[in-house]
Amino acid sequence: MSDLKVLIVCLGNICRSPMGEAVLRDVARKRGLSDIVVDSCGTAAYHAGEEPDDRTISTCKKHKIPIEHSARQIQASDFTHFTHILAADESNLRNIERVKPKNSTAQICMWGSYLDNKPIADPYYGGMNGFEHVYQQCLALSDAFLDGVVGNNR
Ligand code: 4NP
Repeated sequence: MSDLKVLIVCLGNICRSPMGEAVLRDVARKRGLSDIVVDSCGTAAYHAGEEPDDRTISTCKKHKIPIEHSARQIQASDFTHFTHILAADESNLRNIERVKPKNSTAQICMWGSYLDNKPIADPYYGGMNGFEHVYQQCLALSDAFLDGVVGNNR
């Protein structure tokens, strides 16, 4: 039993965090951690209700990672519902801290702090290779996160 509830957060919730959600869920499932809860959201609401960016979907398809998500903005209840809130970059982390309610119980940090302290850079205005890079980071960070909180039981 892990009782982990993890929320991955970026800005728009259409590029990085839905990919992170899909990859972390897949990596956890392959480790037999079937009870983990994984979700994602954005600090901004501009894309609320939208599906992930086509480039995020095609990158996940290429790597055979199931992905299905509807974008949403972070909300107060996330801070007590989730055990871990993982920000894609420093700006996302600052924005999360800004809206954090006083009763927050979640551990909040940049996802990269489990590995190399590197942010997941915003790929929105770049090309497909940016999305492949985000995928590779999400994969490495999923392993690093699960190693850190559950143990290296692959
Ligand atoms: P994400 O990427 O934060 O990884 O979902 C972005 C998506 C949309 C915008 C910025 C970043 N935007 O400015 O609309």
